[in-house]
Amino acid sequence: MGASTFTSRMELVKACTLEQLKAGKGIFVFKHGRKQIAVFQGKGEIHACNNRCPHEGYPLKMGTLTEGCILTCNWHNWKFNLATGETLVGGDQLRRYPVSVKGGAVWLDLAEPAPEQRIARATDSLREAFEDFDYDRMARELARLEQAGADPLDGLRHTVRWSHDRFEYGMSHAQAAAADWLALRADRGRGRTKQLVPLLETVVHFSYDTLRQPCHSYPEEAIEFEAHGLVRAIEAEDEATAIGHVRGALAAGLGFAALERPLTEAALAHFQDFGHSIIYVYKTRLLSERLGSTVLEPLLLPLVRSLVYARREDLIPEFKAYAPALAAWDGKGGAAVGAEDFRGLSVRRALALTVSASGDRGRLYDALFGTLAWNMLHYDIAMQARTDNAISRNVGWLDFTHGITFANAVRVQCGRHADLWPKGLLQMACFAGRNAGFLDWDREGEGSAADWRVDNPMAFFEDTFDTLFDHGQIEHIVACHYIKTVTAAHAECRNAPDASWVSTLAAALNRLINSPLKRRHAARTARQALDFVAAEG
Ligand code: FES
Repeated sequence: MGASTFTSRMELVKACTLEQLKAGKGIFVFKHGRKQIAVFQGKGEIHACNNRCPHEGYPLKMGTLTEGCILTCNWHNWKFNLATGETLVGGDQLRRYPVSVKGGAVWLDLAEPAPEQRIARATDSLREAFEDFDYDRMARELARLEQAGADPLDGLRHTVRWSHDRFEYGMSHAQAAAADWLALRADRGRGRTKQLVPLLETVVHFSYDTLRQPCHSYPEEAIEFEAHGLVRAIEAEDEATAIGHVRGALAAGLGFAALERPLTEAALAHFQDFGHSIIYVYKTRLLSERLGSTVLEPLLLPLVRSLVYARREDLIPEFKAYAPALAAWDGKGGAAVGAEDFRGLSVRRALALTVSASGDRGRLYDALFGTLAWNMLHYDIAMQARTDNAISRNVGWLDFTHGITFANAVRVQCGRHADLWPKGLLQMACFAGRNAGFLDWDREGEGSAADWRVDNPMAFFEDTFDTLFDHGQIEHIVACHYIKTVTAAHAECRNAPDASWVSTLAAALNRLINSPLKRRHAARTARQALDFVAAEG
């Protein structure tokens, strides 16, 4: 009899006779429904396992049995110990079946392990795949989790828990984009493949962003939650106190709703490269709504850490006019502005114009958003090919996509906390002014802005969403910017379907998706490094 033992609810089936096994030189493949089970005669012991290798499904009957129980799959050399169930070389576990010999025949117990056992095994295996950043295996283990009857989102919940303390500087796009991937799954994930793809995208991105990272543990102490105290602690870059407030809030049974206001306030004080902070707060809220309270803590801790480490909006040299503009904001400015008024303005002038129009928040948002969409459509794509530029002019597509995703987060979060609108709008002006120096105003003929026009923007968004299920991008950061930008653009157009910038935004997105995206700059990086080091003396 093989090494496995029978379960209490056996499903015994006769697989073959010993004669048949002998005639097959110790190998017999038994077919039962959709199952193909390989029976091997080792040194005195008989073993049975799935005939399909758990790696890529090739037949294990063509493998080699050595030492009585070591099975090598000759397709890619994975090795399995049929006696212990261990995968010696490779990854996934091999399904084995308990064996007994009675009356000159080999009997197998085909009873499936209890669902909780199967789920536990798939979860352990997913973690191994996650730690190895093994893309194909992560897909298989997520599929096995679903097959075993688990809530498919549990794979992501586990991922959030496993990885939350391995983000040295806090939250990344892995969490932020997860909210959008889950929305894509919920709204457009028709069929099992399209249900799995978004989940796989999220788990793989977490795996990539935390690969080979040690544990960067969080302070343990909880303190009594106080909203202003949380904001002050973030301001003081005091992670222990900021985390303490979060832990205190959770210990008191408070949820994201209690934390949202101080986190939004802190986010709008901390720019964090391209406005990530407010995007992260917004997406953490959405993600926690999808995944539930069991992962609220591991979502909040990296978010707060990222805010603690983020640079202050009002101290960024290129935005030095921001603080005076905020101080001058009285909400009574009467200028009637449109998007065309902001085009080409520097940060300082864009901020001044924003203050002058502060009396009509809706119109101002519309004008600034229209400018950000126009900027994206007119990004001077030649910038990304340059190798002779200064570091300050290392400007790429993502500088422009963030204008859209940032504005979307501002509209939603300031809509929920209206007194924060001045900061949100002025920071949109910073975005518009900052990117104004990297535009191609004069392009005509082939490749001009008009070439990117789409006839039906909302249909175009739907088509673009559909391409995301098989985007083909090797870099997670690129794929996640595609989904973030499409999601934000779609949301803005749904919110204001008659806005004058709808067609501009759709054209800009069309251009982004269908233009070259240079992501590696070897020559530029090398030259800048040489210049930089030479100047160090
Ligand atoms: S299919 Fe068996 S090792 Fe690849």
